[in-house]
Amino acid sequence: MEIELATEKDYKYIVERDKHIPEALVRTKIKEKEIFILKDTDQEIGWMRYGYFWDSIPFMNMLFIEEAYRGQGIGKKMVLYWEEIMRQRGFTLVMTSTQSNEEAQHFYRKMGYRDAGCLLLDTQPLEVILVKNL
Ligand SMILES: CC(C)(COP(=O)(O)OP(=O)(O)OC[C@H]1O[C@@H](n2cnc3c(N)ncnc32)[C@H](O)[C@@H]1OP(=O)(O)O)[C@@H](O)C(=O)NCCC(=O)NCCS
Repeated sequence: MEIELATEKDYKYIVERDKHIPEALVRTKIKEKEIFILKDTDQEIGWMRYGYFWDSIPFMNMLFIEEAYRGQGIGKKMVLYWEEIMRQRGFTLVMTSTQSNEEAQHFYRKMGYRDAGCLLLDTQPLEVILVKNL
């Protein structure tokens, strides 16, 4: 399993799957090196996209592992890889969030993230905010 920064070659893979970002922003995120692609012998098996909360705290916006590849430690490797890069850049705190009805919250707690509040919009289930000290 390889973790690579997304390039123009991955654009199609991302926009066909990531429905939580306006298509027009995908190229900007690729240029800013804020999307990683996970590959298994050159085949895309998932991606991770991040940004910065308050423009100051690294925030993992999206992590998706293709179903056939889940439960094999790949999500964990991606998160640890990203955290190490953030640590090297001098950050001491990282964040993410997940809807309260999603399984992913248990994955993040397992990865050492702790609940730090929530966001309640009238259009979707409560969003749990999670943080981790690096
Ligand atoms: C959530 C997700 C990224 C986890 O990736 P994964 O590769 O399957 O997870 P891993 O195999 O690396 O698991 C790491 C650890 O978390 C635990 N874990 C993973 N998913 C879990 C779950 N749903 N409930 C409880 N624990 C879980 C694993 O048991 C493992 O524990 P261990 O280190 O003690 O063995 C993956 O299931 C996924 O892509 N889901 C769909 C998209 C999604 O919900 N993304 C997150 C919100 S954007």
